[in-house]
Amino acid sequence: MKHFNIIGILALLALFACQPQSEESYQPTPYELPSPLFFPTQNNIPSDNPMTEEGIALGEKLFFEERSCAMCHHKEYSFEMGPEGTLEHLGTQHTMLPLINLAWNTTGVGWESQVATLEDMVLAAYTDPAEIDADTSAVVRQLQQSNVYPALFKKAFGTDEITFVMVEKAIAQYVRSLVFADSKFDRYLHGEEQLTQDELNGYLLFSTENGADCFHCHGGGANALFTTNLRYNNGLDAHSHDAFKAPTLRNIALTAPYMHDGRFSTLDEVIDFYSEGVQYSDDISPLMHHVMQGGVQLTEEEKRQLKAFLNTLTDKSLLPNE
Ligand code: HEC
Ligand code: HEC
Repeated sequence: MKHFNIIGILALLALFACQPQSEESYQPTPYELPSPLFFPTQNNIPSDNPMTEEGIALGEKLFFEERSCAMCHHKEYSFEMGPEGTLEHLGTQHTMLPLINLAWNTTGVGWESQVATLEDMVLAAYTDPAEIDADTSAVVRQLQQSNVYPALFKKAFGTDEITFVMVEKAIAQYVRSLVFADSKFDRYLHGEEQLTQDELNGYLLFSTENGADCFHCHGGGANALFTTNLRYNNGLDAHSHDAFKAPTLRNIALTAPYMHDGRFSTLDEVIDFYSEGVQYSDDISPLMHHVMQGGVQLTEEEKRQLKAFLNTLTDKSLLPNE
């Protein structure tokens, strides 16, 4: 009996001794999401997908694969397609949205907030016939057979048996890591750089109800995301019942064409619309306070100042050099 116990204990010890060795290689490096000035404290990082350096690196590599997200989300245009990104060219139902500060989006992504999480958006983009149009099990098979991917999945998730859920998680981690908080306007908030008089006047117009009245839907001030992430009918069409997300105005100079259908190709056209082109409908948002005058009625000088302010929201620090 005694002998049997000792052998049993030795066998157990041997088992445990082996265990740590095989697990030892899985030590991902935690990544801490920054918390820029006037960003919300709440983020959308799920408890089963904490961000790690290895997960983000894998997600970035997957994002830029040949048949993947970067077919449309081009880095140089703040992850939109640029001037080519028209509905005709894209073949999608709506034009693109940029990938900016989405770790703080807690209301769902897409023009109609139709997709609950970034993980779900990865699946949606891979399977949508108008987007990547891939068979997820074929994607997994290909990654499993590659020379490099199994080792990268092992580093990120502790196993080299790849699943599509891991693909979703890695790419979502990469998208969450795209933090834009280093524009001229941010440096102004930090007291590091001055705005010109035109830019300051534009900021004042943006932030006042009797000025251009933009801030209710697009943030600013204590909401440095420059979006509420909520949906509104902003009066583009007289007979529209649609309400679309008010996109962030960060990097807005880089993400033409504008609106869900790409109807405006310049910021001047957008500003003209808000100034004198707003259409009344029963469903127009009550925050479009000036609809009865057709818009906020800006002078040419005010339009120029508002545009100068919008241009201070550009942050190219994550984008490739021109
Ligand atoms: C065929 C072009 C195309 C491809 C490929 C593509 N997207 Fe998109 N993406 C779009 C369009 C168009 C939208 C706007 C969709 C909508 O709401 O109708 C969008 C929207 C998004 C949004 C929502 C952003 C927001 O502010 O709400 C995210 C996130 C996103 N895409 C991530 C991805 C990821 C990750 C991939 C790769 C797995 C990907 N996309 C592949 C065209 C594409
Ligand atoms: C009632 C809410 C509301 C107000 C007020 C408002 N917007 Fe918008 N904005 C939206 C919505 C909603 C969209 C998207 C509409 C669509 O595509 O159908 C949008 C779209 C935009 C876009 C295009 C974004 C893109 O990525 O395509 C710009 C630029 C813009 N607004 C600037 C402004 C400016 C400047 C002001 C002030 C003059 C302003 N907005 C006032 C709700 C609003």
